[in-house]
Amino acid sequence: MDKPSASTPMLRQYQEIKASHKDCILFFRLGDFYEMFYEDARAASQILELVLTSRGSDGQGRIPMCGVPYHSADNYIAKLVRAGKKVAICEQVEDPALAKGLVRREVIRVITAGTFVDESSEARSIVALRLDKKTIALAFTDTASGTVRANQVPSLHQALELLAKTQVHECLFPDGQEEEVRKVLAHPMLRLREVTLTPFRDWSFAPDRGRQVLLEHFGTLNLRGFGLDELSSAQACAGALIEYLRETNKTPLKHIDRLTLYDDTDHVFISPPAHYGLELEAMVKALDRTRTAMGRRMFRSWLYHPLKDVERIRERQKAVGILREDAVCRQALEDVLALVPDVEKSLSRLSCGTGAARDLLAVRNALLCAPRLREALARLSASSVLFSVGDVAALRELLERAVNPEMPLTKNEGKVIRSGYHAEIDELRTLRAQGTAWLADYQAREVRRTGISSLKVSFNRVFGYYIEVTNANLKAVPPEYQRKQTLVNGERFITPELKEYEQKILTAEDRILRLEAAVVGELIGKVLADMSQVHALAREMATVDVLQSLGAVAALPQWVRPEVTEGTELFIDAGRHPVVEGVIGSDFIPNDTRMDGEENRLMVLTGPNMSGKSTYIRQNALLVILAQMGSFVPAALARIGAVDKIFTRIGAHDEILKGQSTFMVEMTEAADILNNLTSRSLVVLDEVGRGTSTYDGLSLAWAIAEFLQEKKTRTFFATHFHELTLLADRLKGVKNYNVLVREWEGKVVFMHKIVPGGTDDSYGIHVAQLAGIPAKVLRRAQAFLSDLEAGGSLKDRLKGAIPSQEESDLFGRGLATPVADEVRATLEALDVNNLTPLQALQKLEELKAGLRQ
Ligand SMILES: Nc1ncnc2c1ncn2[C@@H]1O[C@H](COP(=O)(O)OP(=O)(O)OP(=O)(O)O)[C@@H](O)[C@H]1O
Ligand SMILES: [Mg+2]
Repeated sequence: MDKPSASTPMLRQYQEIKASHKDCILFFRLGDFYEMFYEDARAASQILELVLTSRGSDGQGRIPMCGVPYHSADNYIAKLVRAGKKVAICEQVEDPALAKGLVRREVIRVITAGTFVDESSEARSIVALRLDKKTIALAFTDTASGTVRANQVPSLHQALELLAKTQVHECLFPDGQEEEVRKVLAHPMLRLREVTLTPFRDWSFAPDRGRQVLLEHFGTLNLRGFGLDELSSAQACAGALIEYLRETNKTPLKHIDRLTLYDDTDHVFISPPAHYGLELEAMVKALDRTRTAMGRRMFRSWLYHPLKDVERIRERQKAVGILREDAVCRQALEDVLALVPDVEKSLSRLSCGTGAARDLLAVRNALLCAPRLREALARLSASSVLFSVGDVAALRELLERAVNPEMPLTKNEGKVIRSGYHAEIDELRTLRAQGTAWLADYQAREVRRTGISSLKVSFNRVFGYYIEVTNANLKAVPPEYQRKQTLVNGERFITPELKEYEQKILTAEDRILRLEAAVVGELIGKVLADMSQVHALAREMATVDVLQSLGAVAALPQWVRPEVTEGTELFIDAGRHPVVEGVIGSDFIPNDTRMDGEENRLMVLTGPNMSGKSTYIRQNALLVILAQMGSFVPAALARIGAVDKIFTRIGAHDEILKGQSTFMVEMTEAADILNNLTSRSLVVLDEVGRGTSTYDGLSLAWAIAEFLQEKKTRTFFATHFHELTLLADRLKGVKNYNVLVREWEGKVVFMHKIVPGGTDDSYGIHVAQLAGIPAKVLRRAQAFLSDLEAGGSLKDRLKGAIPSQEESDLFGRGLATPVADEVRATLEALDVNNLTPLQALQKLEELKAGLRQ
């Protein structure tokens, strides 16, 4: 194998290629390996945990290098890309056997965080950003959908809303805008983590050029049909994105076949803090019953982007309702869907030129499933526009005839094309089979002729076919055998006859591989030509998958179809938290919600710790999301006026890594809510104002509640500031609720039931006890609390107006426990004057025993 050293042409070749891919880790193909050198090798060996070796010399010392086998490169590439690196794949672009001198090498594609088509069901996405004085333009695409979505907006906030809706892995921007772009992505509203930043030539972001690129790519005369005709910045961005993708992939990217205006008018905006605060991922996990990778992506997308349009919601509900009623058909659909591969990703790979035979197989299998899905859907009692599944008949028939469903997936053994499709391939295969039979026959003949019963004909890559004879039989070897290799216990020979057949077989083998590669190339061309139709079919199948998944969940006990209206009400009877219920089952206590948007629109919810406040207020938002994604909801009855945005301010996230204080995050999120809500929004606030001093916190919470009341936003406000219950008397639409608690035999029992009215009990110390805080600390806390409740101030107490710890310990207003009560009662009942010393000792012993229990 050639090595890079100062004087070798190969090292010069490496350095030339590397010079034009400075920002990438260069995978340099050498035989069966991709090798990395210099800095690339150092960085990659760390990330991939590979041994860093060195070889040759470039005149200044040995060259650091490391390498990975080409056939398992995907895993390594995935790791590097996840670590934020770009990987340039440099291949040998001519046959080493035919090359004169150094094999020509070229970078055939660059793989980046936003363009990597991996094996997981998730898609990766990339956004191009372009900021100028008046507008922010964005263009998105992902590795599965084949759609570029672009828009331009006048304000940072609108841009953030659009960005927040996609999980972006890579951000492309004009050279020189890095600082501005970093600022945008670091905004607390975006929780975009680990975005790879990619500066790109700024002139590619010029509007005229962008327009030109788009017209060329989509083969149209203008951009009117895409809704982008007037938006020159958006065009510039989309154009730059396509150029970038084209350059990283070095192919025309046929799978990108749609360009649309990206706006948020169709979907509910769920703020990024709400994704976390409402634990949407947990809801996906709990409710997703899809069977395909495409369905999984679509399910998540429906859940994160619920619909605003009531008609469209009802259309989905209708489809879900039909499927809910027919478990048999659902099962039939599931059975077919389980066989549908991830064609979207296969299409991306095929179009990027990285596709292989198994991607053809995936397309074939998906196309073959379509008629079966249609059949299963036809058996349903009613139909829906969402049940339409098309057919790409010509391509389906072609692939069915041509592609061998039993092809080996890991190694190319020349079995990709089905027999009967290509006459010459069939002929060569017969030849190959005959060759194999001939070999068996030859071995038998030679055994008979030489009388060596252990004589064997075998094959290896170095010698080809050979005859092996053990040492004991060497005497019987005929003279025409030519010795090739000596082993410990035998020798290997060849004969002219054997070599002649070998030639035939190997030639056939080679020819089969070449012919198959050509046929596969043709078939890929056919698939690419029908790309849009296959894409559409994939989306239809994914839709059916999501609907059957929602249908299965809707069929669970006590799930109902919510009535979604244009109003502002939120009526729920016996609603349940879909995730918590999944964990605790029938122990979950259902709760009602009565909001009419007028008299009752801001709920102040007080109640002890651990009583279920957070669970309840989240549950309301989750039910709204489910309803607007078209799902049924876990409740006895629900009527929901469609919302336009959902905001939450819940809990303290750990933002230390991002260098922000807890309170700062809390207030940034609150500011974002107040600046962007409308009268149709839904707001969930959990203990706002907790992160600062009591008075500051209370004052802020109060003012925020007033503001929300004025805006008429439907709001759930769980708080430990009992003072907020006073708002209900002053402001229209504010209502107090609390969580029912029973005290029973000295114990506090949480009923988890939300009831009208305020409360001032906290039971915080009780919860602390449940959590295992030492009794001594609890008693002390109780002492403080009692004093504060009696009107004392914390400062006075600390100045010494309170009994010392020891004084208050035993009979002070210590924590009442059954044992303490008993001890106290016994002591009080004792007549010390009438006790003998021995009796006194016995009594003491009894008391101690009681405490020990
Ligand atoms: N409706 C319910 N039925 C049964 N169990 C519930 C219900 N709601 C909540 N719980 C249980 O109570 C626990 C506490 O709930 P949650 O966190 O909502 O209380 P909280 O009132 O917000 O407490 P804190 O004031 O400490 O924040 C949950 O972990 C859950 O297991
Ligand atoms: Mg809580």
